Amino acid sequence: MAPRRTLVRWVVVAVSATLLGLWVLGGKSSVKLRQTQWQAIKAKDAKLDTSYTADKPKQEAIVAAFKHAWSAYERDAMGDDEYHPIGHKGSNLSAAGGIGYAVIDAIDTMQIMGLTSEYQRARKWIAEKLTFDRDGKHNTFETTIRVLGGLLSAYHLSDEDPVFLERAVDLADRMLPAFTTKSGLPLPMVNLHKKQGVGEDYNANLISTAEATTLQLEFKYLSHLTDNEEYWRKAEKVMKVVKDAKIEFGLAPIFMNAETGDFMMSEIRLGSRGDSYYEYLLKQYLLTNRTEAVYEQMYQDTMDAIHSTLVRQGVNKGSTYTIEMLPQRHEGGLKWTLSPKQDHLVCFLAGSLMLGAVRSRAFVEAVSVPPLASELSDAGKNDWNLGYELLETCIDTYDSPTGLSAEIVHFYVDGDGRDWKENRGKDWYVKGMEFLGTAPSYDARYILRPETVESLFIAFRLTGDHRYRDYGWKIFQSIEKHCKVESGGYASILDVMNVNTAKEDKMETFFLSETLKYLYLLFSDASVLPLDQYVFNTEAHPFPIFHSGVRPLFS
Ligand SMILES: *[C@@H]1O[C@H](CO)[C@@H](O)[C@H](O)[C@H]1NC(C)=O
Ligand SMILES: *[C@@H]1O[C@H](CO)[C@@H](O)[C@H](O)[C@H]1NC(C)=O
Repeated sequence: MAPRRTLVRWVVVAVSATLLGLWVLGGKSSVKLRQTQWQAIKAKDAKLDTSYTADKPKQEAIVAAFKHAWSAYERDAMGDDEYHPIGHKGSNLSAAGGIGYAVIDAIDTMQIMGLTSEYQRARKWIAEKLTFDRDGKHNTFETTIRVLGGLLSAYHLSDEDPVFLERAVDLADRMLPAFTTKSGLPLPMVNLHKKQGVGEDYNANLISTAEATTLQLEFKYLSHLTDNEEYWRKAEKVMKVVKDAKIEFGLAPIFMNAETGDFMMSEIRLGSRGDSYYEYLLKQYLLTNRTEAVYEQMYQDTMDAIHSTLVRQGVNKGSTYTIEMLPQRHEGGLKWTLSPKQDHLVCFLAGSLMLGAVRSRAFVEAVSVPPLASELSDAGKNDWNLGYELLETCIDTYDSPTGLSAEIVHFYVDGDGRDWKENRGKDWYVKGMEFLGTAPSYDARYILRPETVESLFIAFRLTGDHRYRDYGWKIFQSIEKHCKVESGGYASILDVMNVNTAKEDKMETFFLSETLKYLYLLFSDASVLPLDQYVFNTEAHPFPIFHSGVRPLFS
């Protein structure tokens, strides 16, 4: 899942832990656990087939899309960090020059798809042209998940071609100084030439929670491969700081202070700047083969908090969705305003909850496909149900004129002044787009995001329910229809609610690393990168599960 990138900058104020302790829920928040039916096999339209095989024709179509995207990039912009398919040109993240962002993010997809000649050319570029000696600012988190993560997966999938590990070590050594803060939280940016962490201009100590807590899989796997414990400790320390800053309901505001290690007064949400914190709690536990109990506990506490605080049901047809919480100072404490807004990014959580239910909340070592109710604890069933229902909602948000989902959807609520009974029988709407003639808002875009197909892939692997393949295929066809650029590449669209939408001249690298990879894997058989042997980082780079000799720093 791609995280976390937000356009909105929050004005943030540090608050003490005691202040954060005084939670007042604003609005009408009936906090109670939903009682839902066991969903795994109850769905009346389930199409179960657990001995499924690869669907070769669909995989070939997805590989053709990858080639259409990659060959245009290679033709127009090879080596540049980003690609603009309409202008037929590339760009770099920093004026100091490229860091292999696009090439490295895409290379493991080539390995998985068996695109040998593309792979050989990309590898040659990495071996001969790539350098990280760039005197500019690069985002610590994005560089870790896309570049470090991409190199590590390529290393594993190439049967340990040393060029990838050498590059990964060089990059990580340039990044480690970003963790040299008083608290141990990393700074949000890093100068790879000077080997220095760099703060934001408007607040030198600010780091988003997701950015600080979505580096651990990469640095820990690198530590495992190199036997260098420093990578491990730096990444792990961050988790200790977050745990120590713990706030009462087990949820995390989206900003922290890298100097003090405290949370700052900021929103709580499962979307941008929050999302992959929740994702990596589970994945850290899985990466070391379920041996570090501390992450399981943090994960379970946090999922319980999500159930009791953030889950709501739509007013028209009862779709399950999650809300955001916005803090305000109120009579010496904090008051939280609830907002029925869900980022597309949140759709990662559907698959993550289903995976967590079978790996962390089960009575048996290996749960059946699909899971039996008797194999999961009550909490496991609750997690599974919530994941299942959130995925239904995410799929429903693709039921738009273009067949694609908006970057942000809002849900109708009582008293919002909207005529929600009139609106297409849906629970959701896209803000700014509901009146004809208004300019497309950022909310209405589809920027080739992967989170829903990622959850479809996981849900299919865990159930063998062919409905999930059908939905994924529909999404792929909508991408073909609305995002494909004839001369090569794929572009974002500005308005999913308009079939004549304009395109935006950008092909995000996560389209190659995540969206097309997860679509391809949705149609592969279960032996390809099995979920009990691999953990996908938040940019869809798979790492093999391993046993670690490093003792946890905290419990
Ligand atoms: C990106 O950086 C590379 C390496 O310095 C350079 O060769 C290329 O021209 C740059 N691309 C653009 C569009 O500036
Ligand atoms: C993970 O642990 C299980 C036992 O719980 C074991 O069977 C399996 O081989 C381990 N996997 C790895 C990669 O060590």
